Amino acid sequence: MGSRNGEHYSASALFHAQTHIWNHIFSFINSMSLKSAIDLNIPDIIHKHGKPMTLSLLISSLQIHPSKTHNIYRLMRILTHSGFFSLHKLPDETEEAYVLTDASILLLKDNPFSVTPFLLAMLDPILTKPWYQLANWFQNDNPTPFNTAHGKTFWEYAGVEPKLNHLFNEAMASDARLVTSVVIDKCKGVFNGLDSLVDVGGGTGTMAKAIAKAFPEIQCTVFDLPHVVDGLQGSGNLKFVRGDMFEAIPPSDGILLKWILHDWNDEECVKILKKSKEAITIKGKEGKVIIIDMVMENSKGDIDDESVETQLFFDMLMMVVVTGKERNEKEWAQLISSAGFSDYKITHVLGLRSLIEVFP
Ligand SMILES: C[S@@+](CC[C@H](N)C(=O)[O-])C[C@H]1O[C@@H](n2cnc3c(N)ncnc32)[C@H](O)[C@@H]1O
Repeated sequence: MGSRNGEHYSASALFHAQTHIWNHIFSFINSMSLKSAIDLNIPDIIHKHGKPMTLSLLISSLQIHPSKTHNIYRLMRILTHSGFFSLHKLPDETEEAYVLTDASILLLKDNPFSVTPFLLAMLDPILTKPWYQLANWFQNDNPTPFNTAHGKTFWEYAGVEPKLNHLFNEAMASDARLVTSVVIDKCKGVFNGLDSLVDVGGGTGTMAKAIAKAFPEIQCTVFDLPHVVDGLQGSGNLKFVRGDMFEAIPPSDGILLKWILHDWNDEECVKILKKSKEAITIKGKEGKVIIIDMVMENSKGDIDDESVETQLFFDMLMMVVVTGKERNEKEWAQLISSAGFSDYKITHVLGLRSLIEVFP
């Protein structure tokens, strides 16, 4: 039917290609449908109902305009297709009813591990606008598409725009709650022998607070930019310190870098790692740096397509919003040795991310 370089190819191949393109053109509809369900509180409403919820009951519980009620099934249909709800037929009911799936349970607002703050930050127009600048950015000399869109780096913008600062800090805190619970449960040994720990770029302190509580013998410091930590009060074995990690990092036995290095290019990462090395060796003791970040193409080989694509999404996100990237083990090893460290150990315990202990 079609012709490609003079070759003929079938109608089915032509339409398969068209479907593939359409699917990619409209991938954003998955994100936006999910965001609108969160904005309308749908997972929480179904959860509060306490049992499978029929469409008519769901509609009557939503704060929507009466002229829109007949459209809700369309939103629910795509989100059921994409795995956020499932439909069950109850024995004594004629109508099918929606139940939550593992994914929508993780979006409940009062789930301590809720990913909703992360969704709200990532899909805010401040963070979606730079994607329209990606091609322009390839042709200009701006450091990131975010700069092209907003005229500032992401960190500068967060410093002057309280909405972004708040959305982003909440997003990071929600992720830190989930990660911390696993790290404290499954990787206790990582903290053995540490008398002090600085969580560099530790945000509003979620992870450091949990570590301080689980390990009362460790003096914990949250170190971050002034607009993040100013006004936050420590207590007991936890304190907040403002500063710039490219200038100096407070001396400590352990340095935690959770979701820091993927924000920065190789040169910047080597600087951060060198400052971290100074901080852990300054007292004459040899501590360690604990990195929590992705290791792409990890050698386990059992990674599914959705996970690979999600890691690739994060890599693109790091290119568009900041100057960073996601790295494979070879790239991590290169960074670690360029910063003068002698050894590292990777533990794959955090889903798409890993914990990397780095030794001087
Ligand atoms: C991706 S967030 C990670 C937050 C936290 N570690 C977490 O994973 O929940 C990066 C953090 O680095 C901080 N940061 C950026 N530049 C910094 C700098 N020059 N010095 C110290 N912190 C910085 C940001 O303010 C932000 O809190």
